[in-house]
Amino acid sequence: MTSYQSAKEEIKNTADIVELIGQYVQLRKAGRNHVGLCPFHAEKEPSFTVSPEKHTFHCFGCKKGGDIFSFWMEYHGATFPEALRDLAERYNITISEGFSQAAERQKAAKREGLYRINEKTAAYFQKTLKHPAKGKAARDYLKKRSIPGEIVAEFRLGYAPDEWDGLVKDVRDHNMDLNGAVEAGVIVPGKKGGYYDRFRGRIIFPIFDLRRGERVVGFGGRVLDESLPKYLNTPETPIFHKGRSLYGLHSSHAVIRERERAVVVEGYMDLLALKGHGLGEVVATLGTALTSDHIRKIKGIAKEAIVVFDPDEAGIGAVLKSLPIFLNEGLSAKVVELPEGHDPDSFVNAEGLDGFLELLDRASSMFDYCLEKRLERSDSDVEGKVHAVREILPVLSALRSSTQRSLYVRRMAERIGVREEALLSELRTLGKNLSAKGLDRGLKERVSGAKAEKNYGDIQLLNLLVHHPDAAARLMECGSQILISDPTVTQIVGAFFEEYGKGETVSLGKLEESLESETARIKLREVFVGCSFYSDGEVEQAVREIERKAYQKRLSDSVKMAKGDIEGLNKLLKLKAQGPLRS
Ligand code: CTP
Ligand code: MN
Repeated sequence: MTSYQSAKEEIKNTADIVELIGQYVQLRKAGRNHVGLCPFHAEKEPSFTVSPEKHTFHCFGCKKGGDIFSFWMEYHGATFPEALRDLAERYNITISEGFSQAAERQKAAKREGLYRINEKTAAYFQKTLKHPAKGKAARDYLKKRSIPGEIVAEFRLGYAPDEWDGLVKDVRDHNMDLNGAVEAGVIVPGKKGGYYDRFRGRIIFPIFDLRRGERVVGFGGRVLDESLPKYLNTPETPIFHKGRSLYGLHSSHAVIRERERAVVVEGYMDLLALKGHGLGEVVATLGTALTSDHIRKIKGIAKEAIVVFDPDEAGIGAVLKSLPIFLNEGLSAKVVELPEGHDPDSFVNAEGLDGFLELLDRASSMFDYCLEKRLERSDSDVEGKVHAVREILPVLSALRSSTQRSLYVRRMAERIGVREEALLSELRTLGKNLSAKGLDRGLKERVSGAKAEKNYGDIQLLNLLVHHPDAAARLMECGSQILISDPTVTQIVGAFFEEYGKGETVSLGKLEESLESETARIKLREVFVGCSFYSDGEVEQAVREIERKAYQKRLSDSVKMAKGDIEGLNKLLKLKAQGPLRS
């Protein structure tokens, strides 16, 4: 074992996989396993399974799975070396350098470089904000916006001076790589050579990740006056994806978990104002539409999201757009409407936290809100109702669950005062394409179900090996592989016997590493996190049955081959005389 592998094993053995994943996904105990809603695909019924015994997780829906390292990489978008380092740090385990493949190492080093540049850049902006002369206007601006000093410090707000090369110089002074700074998106190469600062004359909001909480992945910057563009962000980089970040989540994560709800606002200033007034469970989307990625992050730690958007047409449009995502992800969503002309920042500064909490208490279900909004706008005449229906129905037709769809149709029919049947038939016309897709899915499921049945013998053998490894010797000796019809199972069983033959305990991790095909790894995990088909008392009988079947199979194969061959027939008779327990 190389040193990194032993470190990996040590981390795995130290980490409590349920506790770790439980930080990001709400898990409940189900038998020996824990289950929850998968953070990697849309679902409303938990098929995401964590097995503490096997140190593994597996989603029966999207088939993603693996050990804690796989989880960390997938959830945080990190490379393996990063995951190894993060988790080693978390569990106080020392790792020697020189692990993993060159390509992975290079990728990790590059990302590491971007984090380093962001860190230095954030420090530079912070320093400038504190600079007596250069930072004065920015400090005054923050004061005018009522952002308290503790918030400025906690969120490491800064100021980019109105200079073309302030940061460029700073990067040079620190002997940092200018190209790296370009890649981090903080400086820009000039058309005629040279470099200039991306952010100039702006209040800077560093954006942090969740991996370690205090690492800067990108920046937002706001002008101090009315000039345009009002906000500027770091472009997409290997470590910054606007559609995936929730501003403030690093600071609010624990509180959201505790209060089981998340308040979602649009802007940097909204978030900071609410934080400043003491609301802990808040995140901001940075002006982008809510994505399923955002919602999965929230639903892993909260029971509901309360969305607070400006009450203008754009705000309502955004809410309407996010409704199907919430419904499909199965996260309960509410909406708060602010009084005309307010955003969360101006409201909380005018009415205080209590005023804002009162609004939260009066939040209405997102579906009802959207429906009311549409009806309100279109009055109660027939034309208006038809119009409202046309706007809401596409949202419903995008729902994957038909039960959910019909529930909402009923609610809508009652509210509008039309027959449910009328809405359903509208919906059918609308959803033609969609139901065709649904049919496809249903068909696929049936086909794969039938396949699973045919391969029941394969699965039995695999189940026995994984959950009762004591039986492995006999299963190997009797040539049970002959019974397998699924090539994937052949691979797995082959790998199992090979490991077993080495005289070591066969662990899931080792097996996964030795399997080349992803299909095989998925199947293997499913058996590992699944339960044993046999109680301890039933194992003996099951092994005997496999021994007998393997013998019979060999016998019948030989009969086929020995047609008209005397010598072959003699061999066969000998085999038959020996009986099933010896070969
Ligand atoms: N935004 C952006 N680029 C813009 C405008 C807005 O990225 N040109 C994002 C920012 O994250 C901003 C959010 O959208 O915080 C909301 O925009 P807006 O409501 O216009 O700004 P406020 O947050 O209200 O900012 P302020 O109160 O400072 O005017
Ligand atoms: Mn505002």
